[in-house]
Amino acid sequence: MIKVENLHKSFNENNVLNGLSMQIKEGTTIAIIGPSGSGKSTFLRCLNLLEKPNSGVLEIDDTSYDLALLDKAKIAEVRKKSAMVFQNYNLFSNKTVLENITLALKVVKKIDKHEANQTAVKLLEKVGLLEKKDAYPATLSGGQKQRVAIARALALKPEILLYDEPTSSLDPELVGEVLNVIKEVANEHVTSLIVTHEMQFARDVADHVVFIEDGEIVEQGSPDVLFQNPEKERTKQFLKKFISMN
Ligand SMILES: Nc1ncnc2c1ncn2[C@@H]1O[C@H](COP(=O)(O)OP(=O)(O)OP(=O)(O)O)[C@@H](O)[C@H]1O
Ligand SMILES: [Mg+2]
Repeated sequence: MIKVENLHKSFNENNVLNGLSMQIKEGTTIAIIGPSGSGKSTFLRCLNLLEKPNSGVLEIDDTSYDLALLDKAKIAEVRKKSAMVFQNYNLFSNKTVLENITLALKVVKKIDKHEANQTAVKLLEKVGLLEKKDAYPATLSGGQKQRVAIARALALKPEILLYDEPTSSLDPELVGEVLNVIKEVANEHVTSLIVTHEMQFARDVADHVVFIEDGEIVEQGSPDVLFQNPEKERTKQFLKKFISMN
């Protein structure tokens, strides 16, 4: 079990996360839904320390980290346990597809060039992009870029994979190819947190859904219960608005 306990994060006077706690069973996929500004991205960014939490404890890989009290070495250690897939891909534009994947392996994991190449090739095959291995990101579609970003994240073999709205920058006709790859990854039981506004997808892919508002969990449960039969009025309201928007 990966545990996040009592996570607090504020930006100046703005308390964005108000003691958020979550338990993530290894091998499962959790979808995080919630209105804009509710703290979903901040939550993911705190987990891999792109933001510094004010307080909170992360228990991962049988180790407990007080997130407010990490020295440089511990920060590097925690960062290595997760990998993030961003809305805007964040690929290096001056590196080829293959190099985008091998770079992290060589720098972060200290893996030699030959092994890094082998791993990258295998993962590119998995996301259906081996023929693009020598291409530069600028020549790829958004869906292809995002599949490279997913391959790069998987290459690091993280304890947990964090996706922040992985399809929301994509043209509608490219969303499906990325969702399919995410689904395949989920089927292989890579522990994942996915922030998404794709409700149908969340329902399909997630083992557990968490609805967040104002940096707190309003309601959580199995996709069937949360989407079909939510308990809280606020959840019903949020989901209804969503259905009417689509
Ligand atoms: N670097 C930052 N500096 C100051 N305030 C920030 C920063 N990042 C986020 N915030 C604030 O934190 C709150 C939560 O933002 P966050 O991006 O986590 O929301 P979100 O749930 O991901 O929303 P969306 O669905 O629009 O992506 C917002 O009020 C936002 O303005
Ligand atoms: Mg966000």
